[in-house]
Amino acid sequence: MASMLLGASSDMIYRGHDAQAALGGDGYSAKKQHRPVGPCRARARALRYVLGEQRLVFALVGMAIASFVLLLAAPSGRHGAAVKTSGQELMSGSAAAGLAARQYTGVARMAYEEPRRVPGRVPLGLKRKGLRVVVTGGAGFVGSHLVDRLLARGDSVIVVDNFFTGRKENVLHHAGNPNFEMIRHDVVEPILLEVDQIYHLACPASPVHYKYNPVKTIKTNVVGTLNMLGLAKRVGARFLLTSTSEVYGDPLQHPQVETYWGNVNPIGVRSCYDEGKRTAETLTMDYHRGANLEVRIARIFNTYGPRMCIDDGRVVSNFVAQALRKEPLTVYGDGKQTRSFQYVSDLVEGLMKLMEGEHVGPFNLGNPGEFTMLELAKVVQDTIDPNARIEFRPNTADDPHKRKPDISRAKELLGWEPVIPLRNGLPLMVHDFRSRIFGDREPDASTAAAAGDD
Ligand SMILES: NC(=O)c1ccc[n+]([C@@H]2O[C@H](COP(=O)([O-])OP(=O)(O)OC[C@H]3O[C@@H](n4cnc5c(N)ncnc54)[C@H](O)[C@@H]3O)[C@@H](O)[C@H]2O)c1
Repeated sequence: MASMLLGASSDMIYRGHDAQAALGGDGYSAKKQHRPVGPCRARARALRYVLGEQRLVFALVGMAIASFVLLLAAPSGRHGAAVKTSGQELMSGSAAAGLAARQYTGVARMAYEEPRRVPGRVPLGLKRKGLRVVVTGGAGFVGSHLVDRLLARGDSVIVVDNFFTGRKENVLHHAGNPNFEMIRHDVVEPILLEVDQIYHLACPASPVHYKYNPVKTIKTNVVGTLNMLGLAKRVGARFLLTSTSEVYGDPLQHPQVETYWGNVNPIGVRSCYDEGKRTAETLTMDYHRGANLEVRIARIFNTYGPRMCIDDGRVVSNFVAQALRKEPLTVYGDGKQTRSFQYVSDLVEGLMKLMEGEHVGPFNLGNPGEFTMLELAKVVQDTIDPNARIEFRPNTADDPHKRKPDISRAKELLGWEPVIPLRNGLPLMVHDFRSRIFGDREPDASTAAAAGDD
C-alpha cells in the first residue's frame, strides 16, 4: 500500500491531474513534492517527463530554432568584443541552446582574432571623411607643412608636440578647424590615441638644438620612438619614421644609397642625434618584423623653407637670416663641403607618397642637386644682398664633408622626385624670414614669389 502511494505521489508531482484522479482529487501536497528520492527513481522520473506529452519533440524543435537564429545572427557580429559578450550570455542560458552557444562562441573568437583595425572602417551610423592622423613634432618646421597638406586632403589631424623647437604660430592658422587638434605632450611619455596613421617627426633637428641637451635628444629618439611604435601596435596604425641622412655619418660612399651602412662616430657630440636615429630605425624594423607593424622609414636630407627656426645653426637659415640682417655669412671650414638642399613641399610630397605606398623603405628623400657652402652663399647673395660678406670660421666636430642622396629607389618605387630648385625655393623662405625678423606683414609667401616679389 505504502509503495502504491509512493508511486502515485511520484506521478502526482509531474502529472498532477493523473495523481489527483488516483487520490480522489485531494492528494496534492508540497511536502510530498520535496521528499528525497534515490538516483534511479529520479532518472526514471526524468525519462518519463521527457517522453511524456511529446516534450522531447518540443525540445528538439527548440534547439533547431535556436541554432538557426544564432547562425543567421553570427556574420553581423563584426566587433569581436560585442560578439564575445553575446556568446557568453548565451552560454549561461538554457541547456537547449548550449550547443548553439558553443558554435557561436567559435564564430565570435574568429571575429575577435581578425586584425583589430581596418583603416576606413567605422561603426554604422558614424561618418568619417578622411583618415585620423597623428603628427608628432607637428608644430615644427617640416611637421607644420605636413599638417597643412593632410588637412587640405580632408584628414583629421592631431599634433603632438612639446614645443621645444616647434611654435604654435606654425599651426595657428588651423585653430577653429574641427579636423585639427593640438596636444602639448612629450613623446618620451606614453600616450593613447585612436588613429590610422602616425607620422613620427618629434625630435630636434638642428645641431644647436639637439646638442643643447644630448641625453634628452637620445631619449626622444629611443624612448619617444618606442612609445609611438607601441601606440601604433596597440591601435593598428601605420607608422612612419622621419630618420635622417645623418645615419650615413661622414660617408665613405658618394652619393649615398640606402644600402650603405654609414660611417658614424658613436661617441661624438653629434651621436645623440645620429645614433639616436639609427636606433629609432632599428626599433621600427624590429616592430615591423616582430609585431607585424606596418612601418615606413624616410631618410631626410637637408630641407629648407618657410617656418624654419631662425638662428638654429642650419646653414640655409643661418645664411638667409645673416644676409637679411646685413651680417657676414659664416662659412665653417673651407666652405668646400657639399650639401643638397630640398624645398619643404617636395619633402612633404615624398613623405605622403611613402606613407600611402606599399614599400617600407628606408628611402632617401632629398634633392640630389649638390652645392658647396660657398656656392650656397653665392645663391643667397644673389637672392638677398649681392654685397653680403663671407666670414670663415673653424669647422665643427664630425661635420660631414659630402652629402648627396641617391634617390633612384624613391623615383622607382614611390614615383617621387623633387621639383623645386634652390633658386626658386629660396625666395619663398626669404619672404617668410623677412616678415618674422622685421615684423613687416607681407602678402602670402607663395603669392609674392609667384609675382616675382623677392
Ligand atoms: N629639416 C631637415 O633638414 C631634416 C633633415 C633630416 C631629418 N629631419 C627630421 O625631420 C623631423 C622634423 O624636423 P624639423 O626640421 O621639422 O625640426 P623641428 O625642430 O622644426 O621640429 C621638431 C618638432 O618636434 C618637437 N619635439 C622635439 N622633441 C619632442 C619631444 N620629446 N616630444 C614632443 N615633441 C618634440 C619640437 O618641438 C618641434 O616642433 C625630425 O625628426 C628631424 O630629425 C629633418
